[in-house]
Amino acid sequence: MPDTMFMKERMLITGGHALQGTVHISGGKNTAVAVIPATLLCDEPCTIENLPDISDVHALVDILCSLGAKVNYEPNRFMTVDPRPAEGWQVSYRDSQRLRASYYLLGALLGRRGQAEVYQPGGCEIGSRPIDQHLKGFRMLGANVEQMGGRIKAKADVLTGTDVVFDCVSVGATINVMLAAAKAHGTTIIYNAAKEPHVVDLANFLNSMGCRVKGAGTDVIRIRGVEKLQSRRPYAVIPDQIETGTLMIAAAATHGDVTICGCIPTHMEALTAKLLEMGARVEERDDAIRVRSIGDHRAVTFKTQVYPGFPTDAQPVLMAALLRSEGCTVFVENIFENRYRHVDELSRMGAEIRVAGRVAVVNGVRTLHGAAVKCTDLRGGAALVIAGLSAEGTTRVTELTHIDRGYDAIERDLAALGAQIRRETT
Ligand code: EPZ
Repeated sequence: MPDTMFMKERMLITGGHALQGTVHISGGKNTAVAVIPATLLCDEPCTIENLPDISDVHALVDILCSLGAKVNYEPNRFMTVDPRPAEGWQVSYRDSQRLRASYYLLGALLGRRGQAEVYQPGGCEIGSRPIDQHLKGFRMLGANVEQMGGRIKAKADVLTGTDVVFDCVSVGATINVMLAAAKAHGTTIIYNAAKEPHVVDLANFLNSMGCRVKGAGTDVIRIRGVEKLQSRRPYAVIPDQIETGTLMIAAAATHGDVTICGCIPTHMEALTAKLLEMGARVEERDDAIRVRSIGDHRAVTFKTQVYPGFPTDAQPVLMAALLRSEGCTVFVENIFENRYRHVDELSRMGAEIRVAGRVAVVNGVRTLHGAAVKCTDLRGGAALVIAGLSAEGTTRVTELTHIDRGYDAIERDLAALGAQIRRETT
């Protein structure tokens, strides 16, 4: 086994440098991990563009290949998937655990061939993350679903369109039922659907192949099943909403002046509003956002909500930017019950944060100091990087595999903006 398998990487960040300049956003992680499984529903080869070069995408390439699909993937250029030879319906335990979105293979394989076996997914440990609503949707479409030994087996002779009313708003369940319903007999109506941009992007991708999805972006989505899906042209996924937010927050945290190009400002409204409340300046253009910040930040209170409310994925990142604000900032994490695992690591840098259940209170401090910290999950890792950018001295961040699941070389973008940041092998 090559010794590189045991080599660890760490990021070294020397704080105190205001970010300046322009950066271009990659394609969206949470849209990519929904659109790539959807290629299995197509009846001919299809091409996806603007995919981020992240480990979740690489994991999905391996999964599609393990099912027998032919995949030609050129990172940062395109991915062409020919699903026709894919006879498989089982995803291995190892592959299922590599990412959260492995569960989308349930919906895609049910839609493709009426059969799927996937183990409980991996992903960020930020709560119990049940999938009862996904399975409820599959059963309402006519599938027989069993869970045993951590494996989920779903089988349907016929999938029949029906009304699916979710007990709670779930991005994953909404996407999974859309995938299973795309080729079902008749129309499926999802009530209490998630409205995130990546739900809309998946609907647009399915419609580009001849599906009939209406209402994506609202809480009622209608999917009229079709016999065949054909790819008429390459499909480019939307830019990453949370990477855009991370760079906006990094600009504010370092009192910099950054223009983020290739983003969709309307996806960022809730975060933009909070940055303005903090005292940052935000200028929206057609496909770019400029963030400037000069004085101290005002403490804000915010509650994470489903889209278009404040995104839970930005909570850890914005917390890192508010560690030195004046006064007390109150966070209420309404989506996941264990999404403060980054707090202990931030405290090692001198942050003053108290957590009680879903509430975290940050008491602003004058200075943060560099420390050795480790990523606990994807966005918690991004929070450590943001804190390191505004700390005195050097911060060493380890367990970078969490960050690499969702950011396409974040240190490259930050270094291009003037951050003193580099990755090294230990
Ligand atoms: C997606 O996770 C994203 N992941 C998450 O991003 C994001 O934080 C989350 O949506 C919310 O926006 C991907 O898209 C791969 P949910 P998902 O189902 O689908 C409860 C990141 O950092 N629920 O909308 O797992 C659940 O417990 C990641 O990019 C049920 O009770 O989120 C949670 O409290 C982290 N039963 C709430 O709903 C279910 O069957 C929202 O979960 C499903 C969900």
